[in-house]
Amino acid sequence: MGDRGLPAAEPVSRRGAGGKKHSMMKKNPGYFREKKKKNEKIVVLTSYDYPTTVILEEAGVDMIILGDSVGTNILGYRDETEVTMEDMLHHTRAVARGIRSMYLVVDLPYRTHETAADAVANARKLVAAGADAVKFEGIKEDILAALKGDGLEVMCHIGLNPQYDQDRMKRGEVSRGKDFEDAVRLLEGARRLEGRGMDLLVLEKIPERIAEIVTANIATPTIGIGAGKYCDGQVLIVTDLLGVNERKFKHVPDYVDLRRVMIDTVRRYRAEIEAGVFPGREHINLIKHEEYEKVKDWCLAHGLKVQGDDAP
Ligand code: KIV
Repeated sequence: MGDRGLPAAEPVSRRGAGGKKHSMMKKNPGYFREKKKKNEKIVVLTSYDYPTTVILEEAGVDMIILGDSVGTNILGYRDETEVTMEDMLHHTRAVARGIRSMYLVVDLPYRTHETAADAVANARKLVAAGADAVKFEGIKEDILAALKGDGLEVMCHIGLNPQYDQDRMKRGEVSRGKDFEDAVRLLEGARRLEGRGMDLLVLEKIPERIAEIVTANIATPTIGIGAGKYCDGQVLIVTDLLGVNERKFKHVPDYVDLRRVMIDTVRRYRAEIEAGVFPGREHINLIKHEEYEKVKDWCLAHGLKVQGDDAP
């Protein structure tokens, strides 16, 4: 049992290859608290679509955050403030279809949680679309209290908050908590949010030492992005991890350049089409000789051209 009386994980069943039923454990906040207590790291990535989610499940990821980073990474938006509830609902449904054991947290986008009533109404929509929990940016105890009061599971998000920090980010200030006042604001904020019952906490782009103090002083599992190794878990934008984007970030390891792989693959496809190599014999459907002969006779009788003389 988790320390809030929750089962550490709940069984779910899925059909694997050959239609066989496999039972897996659906992860929940109690499971993540247990991991924190046992000093086991929590593995998190963003996902925005069904196929990626299925791959992340197979690779053993614990939790998906469907963040408003969908705006810049998938939808071609200028920044996070353009993302709407409709965008989040559409992507939530797609990701939820691929989830088996992973826990799914979905962002409340910009201006959808200005009041407690809006936050609760919009969070309910995300949960109805398949989210296990909602996430919102900022140290807003009233919003958290309203969501928790409605029985929702909630991840908070402090440090760099792209929904509210766009001006700073455009000035090149891409981290928070780097001076005494801002660090203490984050430490106190994390403790106040814990007092209001948050289930999980994202720490974005803050100094490793500050993330370490926050993590050591709350029971809530912390998930860091650009916040160093002392967080209870790590999250990255999946397209950054896989090297799909041209942009490179200091906090992202350089494992693979999927952009290069994709460009090379599409160039090869183009070259093979242009050279008449693709599709080859192994890619085509055949028709029996006698059926083809009948089709040819019918075409000739109807004045149609028949190109190939050689029956496949
Ligand atoms: O929008 C997002 O993807 C996020 C991540 C930093 C978790 O908030």
